[in-house]
Amino acid sequence: MAKKRILSGMRPSGRLHIGNYAGALENWIKYQEEYDCFFFAADWHALTTDVSAAFRVEENTFQMVIDWLSAGINPENPIFIQSKIKEHAELHLIFSMLITTARLERNPTLKEQVRDLNAETMIYGHLGYPVLQAADILIYKANAVPVGEDQAPHVEITRELARKFNLTYGKVFPEPETRLTTFARLPGLDGRKMGKSNNNYILLSDTPEEINKKVRTAVTDPQKVRRNDPGHPDVCNVFTYHQKFNPDQVSQIRKDCESGALGCVDCKNNCAAKIAAYFAPLREKRKHYEEHPDEVHDIINTGIIKARRIAQETMNDVYKAMKMG
Ligand code: TRP
Repeated sequence: MAKKRILSGMRPSGRLHIGNYAGALENWIKYQEEYDCFFFAADWHALTTDVSAAFRVEENTFQMVIDWLSAGINPENPIFIQSKIKEHAELHLIFSMLITTARLERNPTLKEQVRDLNAETMIYGHLGYPVLQAADILIYKANAVPVGEDQAPHVEITRELARKFNLTYGKVFPEPETRLTTFARLPGLDGRKMGKSNNNYILLSDTPEEINKKVRTAVTDPQKVRRNDPGHPDVCNVFTYHQKFNPDQVSQIRKDCESGALGCVDCKNNCAAKIAAYFAPLREKRKHYEEHPDEVHDIINTGIIKARRIAQETMNDVYKAMKMG
């Protein structure tokens, strides 16, 4: 039996941080064993929150893909760039006739994003963001989409669009399932959501020294003022990092923090060393790709060719069902 197909994308934001890793990339790597996987850079989507993102898209995509490969994404999978497959835009246009603006205005992710942008008004492309995402997913007839919780409403809209198209014109699309990432959001160094714009992140590619410097600035339990004060690991960002990157020592660290035996400086140094060790193989592989950028471009170009062929086949199915072909 043919393997089921997984598709997922990220907006290109350059080098990835450990929040991107825990929230998405690690999951993608895991799925590769079981599924036929497609991964892409959603560069058109990047324009919805910042029109000037266009100027950085190429470099940002390149750096992001290097992180994917260095973290363990298998280059045999199609890895490609959304804007290179024009069929996504074509399918988006057809889908835009099959959903009401009222439905899109109800999208909770939209409300959150518009609020974060402090925008007075909403651009047309923002409203249609999930329609483009549905086209990204359905053009490859993906069976499942691994995403974080914030993206689940978009997969729901995707399912609705698949159903609506199939009812209107005949069955072309599967209704893809949402695969929520297993690890909850990794907090940033200051406890807010880890993100580039919050300047509270650790990059996958940071050196051990950089990681140490950053972890040393992390916000811990505010009630643990002096070294020997008893701490509360459950409210400590560094403890969350230990849970993720240092699972073997977690119970000991909890005990020693709570008893006051372990001070924050020692705890942070240990944590930074564990994060650095965790990503040591990634840094090694990254060096290789940085020295061989042509390899990366070849992988992307091969991915584009594979993806385009499938996207074109789907568009043929679409027009045939619509009796427009
Ligand atoms: N909207 C997703 C995000 O911001 C990125 C994305 C675009 C995506 N198209 C997709 C994810 C299709 C999964 C499938 O994270």
